[in-house]
Amino acid sequence: MKKTAVITGGSGGIGLAISNQLSSEYRIILQYHKSLEKIRGLLDLIKQNLGEVIPIQADLSTEAGCRKFHEEACSASEGQIDVLVNNAGGIIVRHTTREITWEILTEHFALNTYSTMMLSSLFIDQLEKSNNANIINITSGAIRNGSLTAPAYGAAKGAVDVFTRGLAHELAPKIRVNAIAPGVIQTQFYDGMPPEILAKLMKATPLGKLGTPDDVAHTVRFLIENTYMTGETIDLNGGLVMR
Ligand SMILES: NC(=O)c1ccc[n+]([C@@H]2O[C@H](COP(=O)([O-])OP(=O)(O)OC[C@H]3O[C@@H](n4cnc5c(N)ncnc54)[C@H](OP(=O)(O)O)[C@@H]3O)[C@@H](O)[C@H]2O)c1
Repeated sequence: MKKTAVITGGSGGIGLAISNQLSSEYRIILQYHKSLEKIRGLLDLIKQNLGEVIPIQADLSTEAGCRKFHEEACSASEGQIDVLVNNAGGIIVRHTTREITWEILTEHFALNTYSTMMLSSLFIDQLEKSNNANIINITSGAIRNGSLTAPAYGAAKGAVDVFTRGLAHELAPKIRVNAIAPGVIQTQFYDGMPPEILAKLMKATPLGKLGTPDDVAHTVRFLIENTYMTGETIDLNGGLVMR
């Protein structure tokens, strides 16, 4: 049976790169929300290379959306899932703490935290059938210093970071659970960010450059292949934050 990887947020910059990276070895179940047009090129490329990719539309910011996605992914995968990458997420609206509303809080936690926790829970039975099962959560460099322009987002990703360690304990030794905390990765996530701010961030980065989606995708592969690693969060930020 072909191994299966579920990638959420597969239509975003990082999700596309992860899907492409894993497609030589895995059947890819790629979740997208609104941007079907963004995945068409990747679908063609994977098919040309004789890989298999199954796109599924879902809104993961609701319980019903998570459950529906899980059901559709299971029937597309013959019930065994080897890798779950919880990558869908982002900032709904930039805000200061003074501007926080209940809606801002719930929307950030629903998209970034609840979806990750709900899907991790739903996919346990399918992951347990794999002999190298992995859950990989994409958090953010914001878990280290908070997010200056979206504190609810930083806190939501911080919750995912803590969840990663708790889940790693709970699911060991059958399923490994790790996280990646990307710094500034060049995707539409930074669209609208003033170039002078990006230039400042680059200057403050010891490696002198911004990250690429492929940097994150390589780290996902590293985590899958490294069978002695669980409960770890890898900081991937060019040295912007060192611990
Ligand atoms: N880029 C960075 O520098 C950076 C840094 C730290 C962390 N991250 C994290 O890395 C992950 C990927 O980010 P990215 O840079 O690739 O961003 P992106 O290009 O904006 O992609 C975001 C993805 O999330 C999906 N999504 C948004 N709302 C959704 C919803 N309600 N239900 C289901 N899916 C939804 C989008 O789907 P559609 O496009 O189809 O709507 C898209 O596939 C996110 O979790 C982000 O927080 C990114």
